[in-house]
Amino acid sequence: MALVRIGGRKTEDGLPAVARSAEAGERDGAQVLSDRADVTAFLARHGIDYERWTPAHAVASDAPPEAILAAYAQEIAALKARGGYVTADVIDVSPDTPNLDLMLAKFSREHWHDEDEVRLIIEGRGLFHVHPPQGPVFAVEVEAGDLIRVPRGTHHWFDLCGERRIRAIRLFQDASGWTPQYTGSGVDEGFDPVCFGPAYVRP
Ligand SMILES: [Fe+2]
Repeated sequence: MALVRIGGRKTEDGLPAVARSAEAGERDGAQVLSDRADVTAFLARHGIDYERWTPAHAVASDAPPEAILAAYAQEIAALKARGGYVTADVIDVSPDTPNLDLMLAKFSREHWHDEDEVRLIIEGRGLFHVHPPQGPVFAVEVEAGDLIRVPRGTHHWFDLCGERRIRAIRLFQDASGWTPQYTGSGVDEGFDPVCFGPAYVRP
């Protein structure tokens, strides 16, 4: 289940801030949404589709991409029909992935794409920051079973969580449109790439 954190900039000392009022759904000066309906409605207001796609299919942690695409063939076909996507692949990274930092650095600065960023998370976690034209930056932590569609043109950036593991199905209308276009705003530097974790709202 995804979590949304609205606001809450980097702390003065650069360290992750500590809890303020978990009971009020507010921590570190940020508002946190954890209820599925709240998360879905909030993201929809920003043009972002969010759905839970569970129960997920059982696939081994080391299953090759072809096995994952085969297991999720029905879901992929449904998404293609819905969104005009033509191809699907699997992004699979772990701490052992060669040049992982180099790869992550491409996406951890504010950018947009000329096509939708569609991810069905199979394993692991990740953190999208979204910078709407009006209103504050918000963060969306995604985990296994989450489907998210960040529309083309949306300013955003992405980080892995502490375990540096994510495996997700990606869908493309045209893979060439998915090159990151950097804004160069530096807005991303004001936000900690810190995931909330399952304990965030249940301390
Ligand atoms: Fe992106």
